[in-house]
Parts: sequence; structure tokens; C-alpha cells
Amino acid sequence: MEENRIPPVSRRRLLAGGALTVTGALAGATVTAAAGSRNSTGGSAGHRHQSVAVAYGEQTVPFRGRHQAGIATPAQAHAAFLGFELAKDTDRAALGRMMRLLTDDAARLTRGEPALADTEPELAVLPARLTVTFGFGPGLFKTAGVEDQRPASLEPLPRFTIDRLQDRWSGGDLLIQICADDPLTVAHAQRMLTKDARTFARLRWTQRGFRRGRGIEDEQVTQRNLMGQLDGTANPAPDDDVFSDIVWTDAGPRWLRDGGTTLVLRRIRIELETWDAADTGAKEFTIGRRLRTGAPLTGTVEKDTPDFDAKDDLGFPVISAHAHIRRAHVAEDRRRIFRRPYNYDEAAAADGRSETGLLFASFQRDIGEQFLPIQRRLAESDLLNQWTTPIGSAVFAVPPGDNTNGWIGETLLG
Ligand code: HEM
Repeated sequence: MEENRIPPVSRRRLLAGGALTVTGALAGATVTAAAGSRNSTGGSAGHRHQSVAVAYGEQTVPFRGRHQAGIATPAQAHAAFLGFELAKDTDRAALGRMMRLLTDDAARLTRGEPALADTEPELAVLPARLTVTFGFGPGLFKTAGVEDQRPASLEPLPRFTIDRLQDRWSGGDLLIQICADDPLTVAHAQRMLTKDARTFARLRWTQRGFRRGRGIEDEQVTQRNLMGQLDGTANPAPDDDVFSDIVWTDAGPRWLRDGGTTLVLRRIRIELETWDAADTGAKEFTIGRRLRTGAPLTGTVEKDTPDFDAKDDLGFPVISAHAHIRRAHVAEDRRRIFRRPYNYDEAAAADGRSETGLLFASFQRDIGEQFLPIQRRLAESDLLNQWTTPIGSAVFAVPPGDNTNGWIGETLLG
């Protein structure tokens, strides 16, 4: 794939005013000049005054391990999901080269060190719990000639009646999920990784999301989404006994077992204008939980178990047959999913209407056994559908982590 070559600009040339003739390169050049006068490996110069904020900035999440980081990691405040399309000539060997390069970048950046050819090394020194997680889309297996290694249910999701999918948010051969507690860290990691990926792949989409800022509320508290609901109450927690059974793949192709998983990413638009028109009773009826406390309509506190059999005085179910939590509920532990969603809120239109929604990310052993039955039930009937519309959809196999000095994807491509 052709790279756009930008002529190099030196400090000397800048001093001579020569760079003014280099259109488009000036911004980058100015920064290079400034960086030249500082400690090029970053170091801690510039943040000598320790404070709580700096303590968060320096926190790291280990990149190496049996599983990739960014799955069981308590969700960081910011995320960027990047979907790439492989160039036609990116065969298995080229993919291996790319994954070695990207693994090295990710390992360094998550430690708070600059990537090898980092042009802004100063930006690497505050990792803020940065994690970089790689996923392989269905198309990768074909391009790399390893179609027989594709997990059986790793294929584009069937089209649901509620879907209004747009190409620009869907599909992708390679996923890079970047999460950190700081948006500048995410942006820098994104830039370094896309730079190294672009010889092999074209960036198809970028989806950015956010949660509450770190330190804004107790980390054990369930977060609210942009509809105002507590979102995550019935989600399995990484330290629950059932978590491993739900998330880590234990069947299918050998390369994915022992630490791998799958990711479904759905971009779901939320019509906040009409949601605002619903009263509290209607909003609570839709989900089956109270807005203020998150308690099920049959209970008093958030963690109360919903009683799906309870009836009101008129004999109607207290939690509606079409309430989101009833439709999404899965009784058998192994068939549940682990949700790790982010909110999005793009620039509002001139009339002030926002482009708002949820980057619904769910991890599970197997998409066909776990995610699909839930999504089918929700598509069939869910009161929430009146306000939510899936506009993007992508699926990925998430390779195991790497414990040694190897690279992510080695078990498939090595
Ligand atoms: C914009 C879209 C969505 C919003 C705003 C939303 C919101 C919520 C809320 C507020 C809850 C109750 C609290 C909790 O347990 O987290 C919930 C539960 C749940 N949601 Fe969603 N959700 C959305 C889409 C989806 C999708 C697409 C799926 C899966 C296909 C899903 C699966 C679940 C599951 C499994 C539960 C737990 C049900 C239980 O066992 O109680 N949700 N969701």
C-alpha cells in the first residue's frame, strides 16, 4: 500500500524559513523542532509536581499475560476502536510481520515507553492504564489463507429487523481496541499503531467512546449510560467464578483456546430526543429497573435479583414481557455475555440534536452460543428498540495474550 510521503523538515530549514514552502508539513515540523530540545526518551521531566492526577497517569496495566489486557481490565475512561481492512497482498507472512510490529508498539506504549519510531516520545510517558487489544475479523482468515482456522461462528452477524447498518461502521479484518484513562494517551497510541499498520491495511473505521472520568466516582459503582440508566448491574465481574466460563474460549480451533475470546462490537444509536419525552415510569418499565437506584421493579436495591414471575394487582407481570432485562436475561451462566460498553456523543447538528449512542462491546467464548440468542430475542421484541438502532456491527476473534516475548496472533500465524 502506498504511503503519502511528506518531505522531511529540519530545524535548520525552519530557522531559514524554508519550511513555509512545504505545505501541510508545518505543524509536524514545528513539533519535531520543539522535541529536539527536550529529553527525547520522555522521562519524567515536565511533571515534577506529584499529584493525584499524575499518579493515575503513570499507572500501567501489564501487556503480557495469558489473556490480552483490555478485556478483564476494569474499563478505562476512554476508548478508540479501530477497524482495518487488510490490503489484498497481505498474506500470512506479511500479517505476521505486522503483528510483530504492532505487538512491540503495544508492549512499549503500555509500559509508558515510546514506540520504536515514536515521533512524539513525550506523549508516551503517561500510559494512564493504557491497554491495546487485537482482534481478527472473518476476512483475515481468508486473506491469510487460514480459513480452516476460523472459529465456526465468527462471521458477520445475520441482519436483524432492527438493524440499519452502515458500511462505515461495520466489518473489518483487524481490530485494535485502545483504552486508557486519558484521551491524549489514546490518541497517541492510535497514531503510532495506525502508522505501523498502514503498510498492510487501510483504516476502515474509528469509533471513539467514553465512560466516567477516572476518580469521578467510586470504581465499584455501576456507571450510567447516556440514557441515564445504571448500565452493568447484571454483568459478570472479572473476579466472579463464572467469568472464565463465560469469556475464555475453550473449544474450537486450538490457536484461540487457552486465553482467547471473541468480541462483538455494535454501534447503537440512541434517540435521546424522544427518550426525553418519556416519563420516569415509562423509562423504568422499558428496562425493568428503577432509574435512580437501578433496582429491579420487583426489588428495592440494585443487586436484588429480579423476580420475573411477580404479578401486579391486576395480574400483569411487574417486569414486562418486553422489558429489556427480561428479554436479555440468560439463566444458564455459561451462556451469558460480558459487556464492556462505551458511550459516544458526536458533534451535534445545527439544531442541537446530538448523534449519541452506545459502543456495545461484548466478550464471550462463542458468538453463536452466547451473543446471538440474546440479540435474536432483543430484535424480536424489546421496548428499548423504540429508542435504539444498531447502525454498526463487527465481530472479531481475540487471540490469547502472550506470556513470553512473542507476539499476539503467533498461535495462528506463527
Ligand atoms: C443502546 C443499547 C442498550 C442499552 C442502553 C442497554 C441498557 C441496559 C441496561 C440499563 C441494563 C440493566 C442493567 C444491567 O444489568 O446492566 C441492561 C441489561 C442487559 N443488557 Fe442491555 N442495553 C443495550 C443493548 C444491549 C444489547 C445489544 C445486548 C445484547 C445483545 C444487551 C444485553 C444485556 C444483558 C445480557 C443485560 C443483563 C440482563 C439480566 O440478566 O438482567 N443490551 N442493558
